[in-house]
Amino acid sequence: MSEIQLQQLVKQYDDVTAVQGMDLEVRDGEFLVLVGPSGCGKSTTLRMIAGLEDITDGTLRIGDSVVNNVPPKDRSIAMVFQNYALYPHMTAAKNMKFGMKSVSDFSTAEIDDRVQEAAETLDITDLLDRKPKELSGGERQRVAIGRALVREPEVFLLDEPLSNLDAKLRVQMRAELLKLHRELATTTIYVTHDQTEAMTLGDRVAVMDDGELQQVAPPQELYDYPTNRFVAGFIGEPSMNVFPVTVRHQNGRFVADHSGFSVTLPTGDGLDGLEGSEVDFGVRPEDITLAQNLPDSTETFQAEVTVREPLGELLLLHCRVGDDELQVKVEPRSQIQPGDTIELGFNEARLHLFEAVSGDALYHSTPQEAPSEAVATE
Ligand SMILES: Nc1ncnc2c1ncn2[C@@H]1O[C@H](COP(=O)(O)OP(=O)(O)OP(=O)(O)O)[C@@H](O)[C@H]1O
Ligand SMILES: [Mg+2]
Repeated sequence: MSEIQLQQLVKQYDDVTAVQGMDLEVRDGEFLVLVGPSGCGKSTTLRMIAGLEDITDGTLRIGDSVVNNVPPKDRSIAMVFQNYALYPHMTAAKNMKFGMKSVSDFSTAEIDDRVQEAAETLDITDLLDRKPKELSGGERQRVAIGRALVREPEVFLLDEPLSNLDAKLRVQMRAELLKLHRELATTTIYVTHDQTEAMTLGDRVAVMDDGELQQVAPPQELYDYPTNRFVAGFIGEPSMNVFPVTVRHQNGRFVADHSGFSVTLPTGDGLDGLEGSEVDFGVRPEDITLAQNLPDSTETFQAEVTVREPLGELLLLHCRVGDDELQVKVEPRSQIQPGDTIELGFNEARLHLFEAVSGDALYHSTPQEAPSEAVATE
């Protein structure tokens, strides 16, 4: 069994707390993505799990054992780094098996067999005799992954392994990593700062900010039920629109009033006591629609188009609404131009409210039935 459990894990560098009381469980065989902005503590977390960084406080378990003080080579972990870390003077094959003798009892023949097997899986058999400088970025990346594969570890740790590749190759390697994981089902933690990569790869995604875990959930749940304003803004491209509103109670319903619109909230769940409060209202760009495409009964509001961004599959409009800017996704071939005034309405099933100061989610207009994971923050 190779589940990984972090309990109140802390990393302190002199005056920087890089990781603050992190609680996280990665299930046996799971592909978990750790995502967050630059400097939020992702690599530090991964390096503590690998044993490359001392743990300041808390407990780290792999399987049933506490491994806080177990040296890296005894943790049955293989790590792939962003910069590949290949030895330039060694062939791909040598790179893949380098150091194997010291971490295992395998014979030379067994190690060679494993290199062959990994090379076949990764489709790099023809490249084994080349040195890194004779390989493309994508091929180097495969050799680096191959080096992790030959060790047949119980856990894979990958730190932004695709960030040196061009966009097309990155998409291709992503698909290959998923295929590999389906075949091997090795417990994997994958670090990235790219939310798209996180959403496409993860069985579950753990979002970090400023050394703290914000939310852990399957991708769609993270998107539909962000636990706070940070997660709401970080996941999704372009970001969720967030504006200040005041909550009002009228004829038994709650209404959110903004300087440019008023919207009646479809349910009152969780809104008791909020009357008169100033909170943040959130709505994603695809959950705003031209009024002409909405039922007549929908509340609508006017917006002035300021920028038009054709993205091929859709047209992104930046609009002025009251005191704020809003982004809305519309049909790509629409002829709407900057300067036009358009009539918009919200998808009332996908509205969110966040507490103004803490940013904690107060309300999702479609209530969540059963969160898959308790939220682990503060
Ligand atoms: N050896 C160190 N000494 C002091 N501070 C460090 C050290 N290593 C990292 N830090 C700090 O710890 C914090 C977390 O760094 P970390 O490398 O884990 O971030 P990250 O999430 O991996 O970021 P990126 O996406 O840029 O790789 C940062 O503020 C960083 O400056
Ligand atoms: Mg990093």
